[in-house]
Amino acid sequence: MATAVVPGICHAVALMWLLLVLFCWAPGLTSAADTAAYIVHMDKSAMPRAFASQASWYESTLAAAAPGADMFYVYDNAMHGFAARVTADELEKLRGSRGFVSCYPDDARARGVFVSTSAGNDGPDPGFLHNGTPWTLTVASGTGDREFAGIVRLGDGTTVIGQSMYPGSPSTIASSGFVFLGACDNDTALARNRDKVVLCDATDSLSAAIFAVQVAKARAGLFLSNDSFRELSEHFTFPGVILSPQDAPALLQYIKRSRAPRASIKFGVTILGTKPAPVVATYSSRGPSASCPTVLKPDVLAPGSLILASWPENVSVSTVGSQQLYSRFNVISGTSMSCPHASGVAALIKAVHPEWSPAAVRSAMMTTASAVDNTNAPIKDMGRANRGATPLAMGSGHIDPNRAVDPGLVYDAGADDYVKLMCAMNYTAAQIKTVAQSPSSAVDCAGATLDLNYPSFIAFFDPGATAPAARTFTRAVTNVGDAPASYSAKVKGLGGLTVSVSPERLVFGRKHETQKYTVVIRGQMKNKTDEVLHGSLTWVDDAGKYTVRSPIVATTASSAPL
Ligand SMILES: *[C@@H]1O[C@H](CO)[C@@H](O)[C@H](O)[C@H]1NC(C)=O
Ligand SMILES: *[C@@H]1O[C@H](CO)[C@@H](O)[C@H](O)[C@H]1NC(C)=O
Ligand SMILES: *[C@@H]1O[C@H](CO)[C@@H](O)[C@H](O)[C@H]1NC(C)=O
Ligand SMILES: *[C@@H]1O[C@H](CO)[C@@H](O)[C@H](O)[C@H]1NC(C)=O
Ligand SMILES: *[C@@H]1O[C@H](CO)[C@@H](O)[C@H](O)[C@H]1NC(C)=O
Repeated sequence: MATAVVPGICHAVALMWLLLVLFCWAPGLTSAADTAAYIVHMDKSAMPRAFASQASWYESTLAAAAPGADMFYVYDNAMHGFAARVTADELEKLRGSRGFVSCYPDDARARGVFVSTSAGNDGPDPGFLHNGTPWTLTVASGTGDREFAGIVRLGDGTTVIGQSMYPGSPSTIASSGFVFLGACDNDTALARNRDKVVLCDATDSLSAAIFAVQVAKARAGLFLSNDSFRELSEHFTFPGVILSPQDAPALLQYIKRSRAPRASIKFGVTILGTKPAPVVATYSSRGPSASCPTVLKPDVLAPGSLILASWPENVSVSTVGSQQLYSRFNVISGTSMSCPHASGVAALIKAVHPEWSPAAVRSAMMTTASAVDNTNAPIKDMGRANRGATPLAMGSGHIDPNRAVDPGLVYDAGADDYVKLMCAMNYTAAQIKTVAQSPSSAVDCAGATLDLNYPSFIAFFDPGATAPAARTFTRAVTNVGDAPASYSAKVKGLGGLTVSVSPERLVFGRKHETQKYTVVIRGQMKNKTDEVLHGSLTWVDDAGKYTVRSPIVATTASSAPL
């Protein structure tokens, strides 16, 4: 199938300036005095065929211009290129390299630049999250309330709606014979029924059934499947529709009782208002973050499944039969599709509040995110057979731009806080300097702590512990809403553990005032490995205008970096 699932990194900057500044979690780097960090933008299409991957081409390009230089990031999808520390002479040589487009000096002045990154497409098992960097926004991917449908009409008038993005012409299959062929794994039976619409029980293997029907060149295929990755199979290259196994009884009964079963299909139909939505996509990578487990990641969920995205005009979007189709747009799924949505919201907030730090912008997006879907039920996770999504899949929830511009309170953090975190993680001074991009100033590790002032909480418990344990968090919130204002703490969930918040009320006399509080999670999660309990702490404004919500996770999943 022609579907692309693409990870990537994208940067949202204040609307006016497109300065790309990179912060990257890259232990082991050292910096030479006369080098500087640059982001080098490359034209991926200029890559010579001899290279197996983009990364190997970039490595070779950098090695030729700057022998020994460290490449500390590779960009994919949103832009192509890499980041490296090079000297001025080496940079001049790079400019002459094949595929060089442009470069930006890095002078993840980082202040004011918001970096939004994709969580990765390695779900649904926990712990495979990318870009779990504490100073970026890490974005998970979910569905939108839009479906691309194939509408099946049976001979008796019954209509069944399934999913399909078959782009062929004509966009209808006229009434044809209709037959059920089990798993569609019998080539002889498929060949005998080529002139028919064939119904396949694809609950065991969707891809095998699709392949068999494609090879047999049947008139059309209907595939019963609730495969949790099924949206990635919707890009049919022949007339095909994915149907829910719940529709099976009606379809089979019709075939059984009809003397000459028939079906017609209409493709190219878009259905809006799908419920429930959003649903966390199976492929979206789950936390905890291996690079920094004590910061709960991902941060938020944004639309990333079946997103209309611009596409190179000379790369085909689909093949129908033997004909390649071209378009300036394609429909793509992946966390690199959700990440730009979050970047756009960040740019909007930054435009309204230009003085806010990246951490304040991120906090606004997180504390106003929605943990419920458009049926007002907790957001579900396709990767867990549609059971409730945990914050390790969706972070604080689905981004809500309208609420995010006026969050009431924000959890702020700056470069010093990140340095204290890195100190507590035992990074060396050289590593911290490289990350903080300040090679000259000394690293101050006073007050080192793993407890970053973050709008979410993750507590690790040892399943083998013989006595209850306590995990303590300290937070500071800044009033960016009306003043005076007072808020009360409301804790939900985390059954079996006790969560205490102190103080339980926060009173702000004026705007921009900061108040501190402490959260203690106590208890035992005995003999349960990889258990995830979750709940939330919400600060509710007395005036009823603001609710500032933080997810809380208590888990026995390993906090050890992978
Ligand atoms: C495959 O289908 C053919 C034709 O319907 C049938 O004769 C044959 O028995 C089937 N083979 C198997 C293994 O079911
Ligand atoms: C697409 O067009 C670009 C720009 O003209 C060109 O460099 C590239 O080789 C083309 N790619 C393909 C697959 O034809
Ligand atoms: C698919 O449906 C079966 C039967 O209803 C169910 O057991 C299974 O969990 C479902 N799988 C997914 C991924 O929804
Ligand atoms: C850092 O090193 C100290 C002393 O060796 C150790 O106790 C601590 O667990 C380490 N922290 C992390 C996050 O690895
Ligand atoms: C936990 O596991 C240990 C070792 O397997 C066992 O001795 C103990 O009874 C278990 N405790 C509970 C509460 O299940």
